[in-house]
Amino acid sequence: MSFLLFWKALLGRFVGTWIVLSSMWQFNLTSPETPGETPESWRVTATPLKDLAAERGRWIGAAVDPNRLRNDPAYAALVTREFNMLVAENHMKMTHTQSVRGEFTFAEADFLLDFAARHDMRVRGHTLVWHALPKWIKDKERDWDAAELDQIMTDHVTTVVGHFKGRVHDWDVVNEAVSGYFGLRRTVWSRTLGPDFIDKAFRLAHETDPDAKLFYNDFRVEGLNPKADRLYDLVKGMQARDVPIHGVGLQAHMHFSMPSRARLQAHLQRLADLGLEIHLTEVDLGLREPITNGKLIKQAIRYRRLLDACLAVDKCTAFVTWGVSDDTSWIPTFFKPYDAPLLFDADKQRKLAYFAVSNGLIEAEP
Ligand code: GLA
Repeated sequence: MSFLLFWKALLGRFVGTWIVLSSMWQFNLTSPETPGETPESWRVTATPLKDLAAERGRWIGAAVDPNRLRNDPAYAALVTREFNMLVAENHMKMTHTQSVRGEFTFAEADFLLDFAARHDMRVRGHTLVWHALPKWIKDKERDWDAAELDQIMTDHVTTVVGHFKGRVHDWDVVNEAVSGYFGLRRTVWSRTLGPDFIDKAFRLAHETDPDAKLFYNDFRVEGLNPKADRLYDLVKGMQARDVPIHGVGLQAHMHFSMPSRARLQAHLQRLADLGLEIHLTEVDLGLREPITNGKLIKQAIRYRRLLDACLAVDKCTAFVTWGVSDDTSWIPTFFKPYDAPLLFDADKQRKLAYFAVSNGLIEAEP
């Protein structure tokens, strides 16, 4: 076994053990930490989340699929009833907007933006520069010439941001560039262009739409941990270099673990202290099958904890779930046996997690 293979095998073993341990941890996680986290005290309210959130100057959103908005009236009705912020689950990613080199496709995203405008919703754009890429970029993964790839990134950012100018209010400019282990993740962008690609993408987006708020977005960076420290250092460094960054998106896919309220809030607060806005951008809390009432209660308590940490920090202004109802979530496809991660069940009924969120909003100061 070569030296490299040995380290890869060791790392694989470490990651596997971590996943098993953290999923076992779920069973004795999460007992309430504060009185507000106790479901017995929650009220059933008819007031939609978006009204409660707006009264407190916050956005509550969901990732949506334009096809469902068009073809499933119950889905569209739920989205308009409850949310005041939308994000395209997939249709603004490069795999959709430039699946063929130089040919840009915006029809589905435009449909979504029209829908949002008709219903007075704010739109997050997701995402401009990420390592999940169309085949034509992936195929040449290691053979790109730096000047050519730099031009591709420039054209992509300026064309997409230009197309949506004035209609997309917040952009996830760069997604998931921080490594889980050290430094930056090794992607076609970082390998070919070096670490400066991040600053450049933000500058290009800002020049194209100076009014858009620009976010760096990543996962497993919600509480205090080494990756969250790297994210903190990254955005602080960007500010020191006068890069136009306005906020940080914390994805909050939290199926396996949930930091304590104190550690969540401390991280949100240190980002806010840099003057950055914070959005929780992809919240979902999958449960390991079989789904029991006990697990749904724990899920609700965790939703409440995450929301409370956000509400305690003025600059944490958006709470966005990654999907609408459990039947539309990506989780069972990608993380089986995890499922049921959202606020609405497969029949589009409100779950206990929904009441966790509505009660968290009700109890927060308007
Ligand atoms: C990441 C991305 C999202 C989405 C999810 C899985 O979190 O940021 O766009 O692809 O993975 O659906």
